[in-house]
Amino acid sequence: VIEDVQVRKILDSRGNPTVEVDVTTWNGFGRAAAPSGASTGSREVVSFPEGGVDVIVSEVEDVIASELIGMDANDITTIDEVLREVDGTGNLSAIGGNTTVAVSMAVAKAAAASSNIPLYRYLGGNWVNELPYPLGNMMNGGAHAGINAPDIQEFLVVPIGAKNIVEAIFANASVHKKLKGLIQSKDSNFTGGKGDEGGWVPNITNDNALEIQAKACEEVGDELGLEIRPALDMAASELWNSKKQKYLYAQDGVERDTGEQIEFVKDIIETYNMFYVEDPFDESDFEGFAQLTSKVGNRCLICGDDLFVTNKELLLKGIEMNAANAIIIKPNQIGSLSETYATVKLAKQHNIVPVVSHRSGETTDETIAHLAVGFASPMIKTGAIGGERIAKLNELIRIEEELPNPKMGQF
Ligand code: PGA
Ligand code: ZN
Repeated sequence: VIEDVQVRKILDSRGNPTVEVDVTTWNGFGRAAAPSGASTGSREVVSFPEGGVDVIVSEVEDVIASELIGMDANDITTIDEVLREVDGTGNLSAIGGNTTVAVSMAVAKAAAASSNIPLYRYLGGNWVNELPYPLGNMMNGGAHAGINAPDIQEFLVVPIGAKNIVEAIFANASVHKKLKGLIQSKDSNFTGGKGDEGGWVPNITNDNALEIQAKACEEVGDELGLEIRPALDMAASELWNSKKQKYLYAQDGVERDTGEQIEFVKDIIETYNMFYVEDPFDESDFEGFAQLTSKVGNRCLICGDDLFVTNKELLLKGIEMNAANAIIIKPNQIGSLSETYATVKLAKQHNIVPVVSHRSGETTDETIAHLAVGFASPMIKTGAIGGERIAKLNELIRIEEELPNPKMGQF
């Protein structure tokens, strides 16, 4: 039974305020914080009410506490419904999706603690034994970097040959290190600057970035004796100019219409043997996604982030159109753990790979590591280095140690 709910303002990795929630039951305690995006999808729930975090702490906390105190923390679905009712809007703009998601996750953690089990086991049951492959962020561009960086938002890698999470995490860190030198060979003015998610920010073309990304995968893969594949988050909604009906690549001085974008992405996937490409089209272009998926979906994961915003209805549309074969799962896009789980369940029923993910603005909260394991998500996207990123990665190392028969995720 919930005895207390406390909300406080804390700092995120970009230096912005966010919310942290403590939930106390008579025999347990749970704490969770909400992250924030920079390249957010337009159909996400609203993160914070007008007035921001201060309003939540001064006004919303009491309302939520008075509703939740006395409720059973195991009743997460009901609690999430109560939070939606308290908000009263369709998009959580009154109390903020970041508030509801932090409460929802803190309740789940308190419930798990009250049963004396870790969150991943509380969510996934006793048979949980899979660790997600970490999608590591190597270079940043677009909205996560400054000007003169590549337009593609995230150059990622997947250590698909790793036998366990420790090997996987350190392989990613090695690629990150290797890239520093490779960037210097292309950009003599490189200062070692990094973007929002800890990837390097080079002043090079998209093509050059793709080239050294592939080279780093190959070299480190050979050194460690395991396969490492490149991956991308193109965050193409940020490149799409609706007036011109074109994707603008400022760094390269190139514009592409949808047909050219399909060919461009298909070509990248084939040339570099990409394992995964996220958001290759604007968030409204289900049709473009479907065309690309029909061409290369048998050899590459085509993943929707801004396209689906962790929303079950949008995923359903994507399933009907065969728009993608993977979906990014960010709980704060939809505002609660139970709705997040419903989307994951629908994805799995239709062989869509759920990829639990951080946001560009993060805290040291480690909850998503537990969600990835508890949901048996075969991949987690949570960077490669940096305190707020390694909080999740190191938690995965601890979880692997606890599992009796750990193995890497199954696609
Ligand atoms: P965001 O970006 O957290 O800034 O939305 C991450 C992503 O696009 O995957
Ligand atoms: Zn994305």
